[in-house]
Amino acid sequence: MTEIEKRTQRTRWFMHDRFGMFIHWGLYAIPARGEWVRNAERITVEDYQRYFDEFDPVDYDPKAWAKAAKAAGMKYAVLTTKHHDGFCLFDSAYTDYKATNTKAGRDLVREYVDAFRAEGLKVGFYYSLLDWHHPDYPHESDSIHPMRGNPDYPDQGRDFSRYIQYFHNQVRELCTNYGKIDILWFDFSYPGMAGEKWEATKLIQMVRSLQPDVIIDNRLEGSGEGDAAETGTLLQAEPSIYAGDFVSPEQIIPAKGIRNVLGDPVPWEACITMNNNWGYAAADSYWKPAKLLVRKLVECVSKGGNLLLNVGPDAKGRIPQQSLAILEEMGRWMAKNGESIYGCGPAGIEKPEWGWYTRKGDTLYAHILEAPIGPMALVGLGGKIVEPRRVADGAEIPKVVSFNINGVTEHAFINFGPGAGTYPLPDETDTVVKFQIVGDL
Ligand code: GLC
Repeated sequence: MTEIEKRTQRTRWFMHDRFGMFIHWGLYAIPARGEWVRNAERITVEDYQRYFDEFDPVDYDPKAWAKAAKAAGMKYAVLTTKHHDGFCLFDSAYTDYKATNTKAGRDLVREYVDAFRAEGLKVGFYYSLLDWHHPDYPHESDSIHPMRGNPDYPDQGRDFSRYIQYFHNQVRELCTNYGKIDILWFDFSYPGMAGEKWEATKLIQMVRSLQPDVIIDNRLEGSGEGDAAETGTLLQAEPSIYAGDFVSPEQIIPAKGIRNVLGDPVPWEACITMNNNWGYAAADSYWKPAKLLVRKLVECVSKGGNLLLNVGPDAKGRIPQQSLAILEEMGRWMAKNGESIYGCGPAGIEKPEWGWYTRKGDTLYAHILEAPIGPMALVGLGGKIVEPRRVADGAEIPKVVSFNINGVTEHAFINFGPGAGTYPLPDETDTVVKFQIVGDL
């Protein structure tokens, strides 16, 4: 099999499941100003130590996290095992800078894996390639280290190969000690720190030997910038061995989905925050409503991608109430309409004015976000789709008989309201109607 064929096989479940939970959690939940607080405020390791000494997530309950994710219709999760600050939520033999040495006193990743597996969700590990705590990672010369440009933190004496050995050893631990891992989410490469700088070929060969089916993001060479065309080889005809299995657009949904230079669709996953921060940020109240996020999930699927929706638990280990409320509301919609998401992808026809299409084999799903005036036209689908059913309750949509579409055969029409009306829509978030496809779309 070619690399692309192997990738297609590996990502089959991922392309089916479509919807996952991103979890950003660590010491940065205590300052509660986002996970880049050390970089933004140029906090020294010494000054950041207070958060290590204090970390005591008395309310950490990954079973509750897993139940919330499952109830929202999520099928997998990705937890930050180590973020840029270098703090490890797992019991690594290669560092003392880990949860087991805090008041938490235990391997928090182990409990996450057990809890999410118990709910039937697949488990992923985020692992930061950057490490602002490790003494052998560049400080003064680096472009984003908290001590960047600070002559009190010179780089002489720092042995980057020692850091590489450290991070490869930790990835080996993550691939060895927690059973079958479904996703490895590396983050992130940047100018001068990409590809073989991470000794990525050696890393991937090790990962593949331990976890042959794991899927990997594109950030061993790329980042969240663009569609990876300029930041990786995943879209090229012959991707590198460490190009990854999916593109990871960040805080954006690609305009037209993502294809490689051969025109073939490439798996992708948009990672998006519920407010404006990945890590817990107490003052960030800019929460996206569930209605918007449902529609963004539909948009991702209609373009052939996944949505990885983030939660940032607080210092005590609790997912914020606002996030839980959003997840619950999304779950109510998913419980009724999930068949229009799972296993679905692009319909191969033009996006309609009133919403989106998703498709699964010979079933077409119309995601109606805006009520038209009068019967709603499915442009160009006259005679090509039959058996309209409302997905939420299975109700047949009666054939439209209305003077204002007499003689029009080019398009198909549906309505919901009394007489010829289509207002109000049964579900203002997204009313989904499915059809059997009988003609060539
Ligand atoms: C960026 C940020 C990082 C975050 C990631 C999520 O790489 O540096 O904080 O974890 O995006 O995609």
